Amino acid sequence: MTNTPKTIALDGPAASGKSTVGSRVADALNYLFFDTGVMYRAVTWTALQHGLDLLDEAAVAKLTEETPIDVRPASQDDGRACDVLVENEDITWQTRRPEVDANVSTVAAYAGVRAALSQQQRRIGLRGSVVMVGRDIGTVVLPEAELKIYLDASAEERARRRYDEIIARGELADYAEILEKVIQRDHIDSTRDVAPLRPAEDAIILDSDHLDANQVFEKIMALCK
Ligand code: CDP
Repeated sequence: MTNTPKTIALDGPAASGKSTVGSRVADALNYLFFDTGVMYRAVTWTALQHGLDLLDEAAVAKLTEETPIDVRPASQDDGRACDVLVENEDITWQTRRPEVDANVSTVAAYAGVRAALSQQQRRIGLRGSVVMVGRDIGTVVLPEAELKIYLDASAEERARRRYDEIIARGELADYAEILEKVIQRDHIDSTRDVAPLRPAEDAIILDSDHLDANQVFEKIMALCK
């Protein structure tokens, strides 16, 4: 497939299915799958562990600059898409905890945090053969990406998907609470000053309310050809 785009940017709001579909597309093309959200989550978890005041922007930005975050291919078959390591400690599942969900958008709105992380993301993205997933990949991290997709769905549908995911992991979940958190996170992500969540002008918008993961996958693969 000589015309296959070398870099694919996949952006969209919380729980729109970017990771599920993005990793399948990456597998099918034999590309690297890079979910940039895990980096913001890793910083948030580390800041909470260090007992930092998350409203202290300067302290959180400094921590981001000083913390080596490593994202590697999954070493265990326990449902993870990749391993997330901070100072050689595997924090993959910690990054999915409710306290991280509740605070990650605050941390991700800080300019210093974004500058440090998007620089690392861009370096990896520029190597090509990558499906990069996030909020600002098509607009800021890799504006030159050859294929940009903005995957959308209603908040209710996204909350339902996140609910099903948590239940499938054998954990307890409350739909109304998840919906409220999703709406809250969308609001912070799309109204922040730096790199707000929005489709790039040349992005293809896919509304997945009435499409399952398989159908979204097929649509993206068709766009790759
Ligand atoms: O999986 P989910 O959609 O719930 O979230 P995620 O992709 O893991 O991202 C978690 C949070 O990190 C988002 O709500 C954003 O606040 C932030 N994020 C960002 O600002 N920019 C990115 N490129 C990726 C994530």
